[in-house]
Amino acid sequence: MSRLRIENGTVVTPSGRVRADVIVEGERVAALVAPGAALPGEGDVRRIDAAGKLVVPGGIDVHTHMEMPFGGTFSSDTFATGTRAAAWGGTTTIVDFAIQPRGKSPREGLDTWMARAEGRCAIDYGFHMILSDVTDEALKEMDGLVEDGVTSFKLFMAYPGVFYSDDGQILRAMQAAASSGATVMMHAENGIAIDVLVAQALARGHGEPKMHGETRPSVLEGEATHRAIVLAGVADCPLYIVHLSAIEALREVTAARDAGQMVFAETCPQYLFLEDDVMALPDFEGAKYVCSPPIRPHGHGDALWRGLGSDDLSVVATDHCPFCFKEQKELGRGDFSKIPNGLPGVEHRMDLVFQGVLEGRITVERWVELTSSAPARLFGLYPRKGSLLPGADADIVVYDPNRAHTLSVESHHMAVDYSAYEGLRVIGGVDVVVSRGTVVVEGGQFRGDEAHGRFVPRKPFEGLEVPRHGHAGVTTLADEKEE
Ligand code: URP
Ligand code: ZN
Ligand code: ZN
Repeated sequence: MSRLRIENGTVVTPSGRVRADVIVEGERVAALVAPGAALPGEGDVRRIDAAGKLVVPGGIDVHTHMEMPFGGTFSSDTFATGTRAAAWGGTTTIVDFAIQPRGKSPREGLDTWMARAEGRCAIDYGFHMILSDVTDEALKEMDGLVEDGVTSFKLFMAYPGVFYSDDGQILRAMQAAASSGATVMMHAENGIAIDVLVAQALARGHGEPKMHGETRPSVLEGEATHRAIVLAGVADCPLYIVHLSAIEALREVTAARDAGQMVFAETCPQYLFLEDDVMALPDFEGAKYVCSPPIRPHGHGDALWRGLGSDDLSVVATDHCPFCFKEQKELGRGDFSKIPNGLPGVEHRMDLVFQGVLEGRITVERWVELTSSAPARLFGLYPRKGSLLPGADADIVVYDPNRAHTLSVESHHMAVDYSAYEGLRVIGGVDVVVSRGTVVVEGGQFRGDEAHGRFVPRKPFEGLEVPRHGHAGVTTLADEKEE
């Protein structure tokens, strides 16, 4: 069995940091030992020096869309290119979304996505199921999907006529999820009201990208989030709000969690780092930033960072859904409602959230929790993923907290012709990435292969206690150095 020793680094998990060597045997973590401790039969061990580096569980991005059909096209990253880019950025597991085709069964959707991903992923992967047609038959299938490791179901309060479910359908799906041990994930925007505003803007002759933001105001995210929480309470179903972008929505999640309801939410780097002026860029460049919910005005991002610090927000995922500026975003020139919705980001999540550590917004432990351990726990992957406990999959990142680099289309590995963060200088970068015991990124080289990634069945929801404000006290890496 192959043996790996990642030595001299600072191991960081949500509960603390410690100087230790990580011993990997085959695909699993075997032990954490004191730096330099002698181990029997160490002759054939492969050593990775992590001196001055952080050693963390591999990132888990629970919100990606590889090869996703949308608005007459497909998101531009395939499972092959997208998982390779994820690995480059220190993510070792993605959970993507299989889609139930309208008029067909969820199982058919899952089979399609399984076939797309199998043998083509550089890292491990799982699936959520998008329910786009909540029928009696679809609801009956949920138990079987949960048994097969698909334990979360996304519903949409937006996109009428495409993915939209009405309140009755949502309630029924939540009841079925509750009895199957599944979680409901919600795209919470009031799509019926949004469609009125979109039609009115277009009738007034306003087809430019910035109207995307103006026709999807943050109050309509807040309203939908409130409704989703009420319905989940009636059904007694765990609820996870995806891509939360707005203060109004955050307030609803905070209130529900304060009341002890099983409500969780993620936000995404685009809502932390970008503001709505990007949608007004000239020459149709604003289209690059069209996603739903839209990028919000100044003020929302700071509130979201505070929510991450206080645990009102539990996860940072990317909602990686790239469309090329040329040819794909082009589809909406003159009519913003036809711009394919989504942004690239799977490669940059770990680095972007790490900036919050350097800025004193979150601790380094919280960085690990938000990007790895919490998504693993919430989506039935823990402790196999998101931990460095003995027996866990050896998904490990050696992270250099001092490496400065610039995000750019010139250097990224995602299959998309622009960067949403072009020219952004970040500090902190991935050095080595290990996926189930195999080194897949090292020395600025990708060493993995498409056949390595495996489907990971996930456990049902585990009835977690809703943690409250456990992370408000912020210690920075700088504090650590002073100790
Ligand atoms: O604009 C977005 N978010 N595109 C991906 C689909 C979704 O709603 O998550
Ligand atoms: Zn969504
Ligand atoms: Zn999404």
